Amino acid sequence: MHHKTIAVAKGDGIGPEIMDAVLSILNAAGVPLEYHVIEMGKSWYEKGFSSGMTEEAKATIEELGILLKGPMETPKGKGMKSINVTARKMWSTYANHRVFKTLNGVDTVFSRAGIPIDITLIRENIEDTYGGIEHMLTNDVALCRRFITRPGSLQAHRYTFEMARKKGAKKVTCGHKANIMKLTDGLFLECFYEVAKDYPEIQANDIIVDDLAMKLVVRPNDFEVIVLTNLQGDILSDLCAGLVGGLGFAPSANIGDNISIFEAVHGSAPDIAGKNIANPTALLISSCMMLRFLSLEAYANGIENALHATLMQGYHTSDFGSDPAKKLNTTEFAAAVVKNLDLTALKNAPREVAATTVRSTAEIIPNHMMVSAPPATAEVNGVDFFVECTESPSALAARFDSVIPSEMELIMISNRGTQVYPHGSVLTECINQYRVRVERKAGVPSVSSDQIFALGAAVATQVKICSMEWLMSYNGQRSYSLAQGQ
Ligand code: NAI
Repeated sequence: MHHKTIAVAKGDGIGPEIMDAVLSILNAAGVPLEYHVIEMGKSWYEKGFSSGMTEEAKATIEELGILLKGPMETPKGKGMKSINVTARKMWSTYANHRVFKTLNGVDTVFSRAGIPIDITLIRENIEDTYGGIEHMLTNDVALCRRFITRPGSLQAHRYTFEMARKKGAKKVTCGHKANIMKLTDGLFLECFYEVAKDYPEIQANDIIVDDLAMKLVVRPNDFEVIVLTNLQGDILSDLCAGLVGGLGFAPSANIGDNISIFEAVHGSAPDIAGKNIANPTALLISSCMMLRFLSLEAYANGIENALHATLMQGYHTSDFGSDPAKKLNTTEFAAAVVKNLDLTALKNAPREVAATTVRSTAEIIPNHMMVSAPPATAEVNGVDFFVECTESPSALAARFDSVIPSEMELIMISNRGTQVYPHGSVLTECINQYRVRVERKAGVPSVSSDQIFALGAAVATQVKICSMEWLMSYNGQRSYSLAQGQ
């Protein structure tokens, strides 16, 4: 008999309240799982564990492979890195699978209009700005690096199409901003259509993310499965949660090859923590996603049926519903769901998990380098210098011209991405940081790193360099963006 033990982290804020409620329902349903409660969350960070978890907790999750997780708090603008993001990135849970579905009994603008909503959103979960790789380049200028990679995008898209195929979805939509971010979002979009070719039965289309936001509100049932980059997916997830009644109803799964984390979309809701009034539904549906992942469908169905019955009876927590006589606190709401469990039907559910879901440590796929086929050609055209300077663009250009060797030339200077030299507008407001682009002259072969470092040393005698980026051409294609107005 296979008993599966999963790791459970109760989380911060409302986390322990909603997790206790959910576990009480899972236990009442007789789910054949054991729970290893681990030490993870803000308080562990404050005790000196930089990843927000003890070494034992980390080892337990790595051994068990499944984490049912409560929300964890992250301070805004300062302090520790997000424990949630650390966990997702450290264990390569590359696809964040979120489901937004109309629940009968939850009153929304759309339910009143008789418009059912069933949207699945996959958010790429590792890349984008979520590395939080940020620097102050000058006292006035903050920079966040946004990474979109070919292997990472392919992983998220492959998961999306596989999931869509299993679900029988007819259409997958890729949201993006490739009209502005032609290389980053452009790469995400290119990978989308590359993967889509392997799923000819599914219609693949794309939409600019701002238009997507509008259309989701106006015609939400035009969308079935949506895939987005990390930050855009984060924002539109909350929009989709709003369509089905709020964050209390939005479940999610962070899927990786070795570890998967199941958690509600919402956060630790410090404004209502400790009051026993939070809605446990999102975490409960997340736990049902976990049960299905473990092939325990009968329990997931039984619990969701009981939840639906409870909502149809009009019971609600304080974040939704309007009948004061049927307003319940977190514990009472869980008890109402338990009361609606069809225990007779659940008695026939399998008492063990399928052997295939009990992974042994020997099956763990170790870290590997994800790299696509090398380009036919890779040439260095030059370098962008990001420099701190309060002089005029032409004065800065004169400084560069005094040190640039004969085989290279100054192409342009931009400020906040807008060209200000050799052409520009006197009306462009500048900040104290310029980008100066230097490229090889026509006919000069690829520039070497030695030449760039030698140029850097010469430039440093003229002006403070904040950072440098190599200007590459892959397969003969310019692989860096132009400045606005260039
Ligand atoms: P939040 O999701 O915690 O709260 C937003 C609003 O929704 C609040 O008014 C809250 O009371 C309400 N709400 C959220 N969940 C609810 C529930 N189950 N029942 C009833 N009402 C609920 O977002 P916020 O305030 O931006 O973030 C709070 C903290 O949570 C931050 O430290 C943030 O970093 C963290 N967070 C953690 C996440 C995770 O662990 N995966 C995800 C999002 C935020």
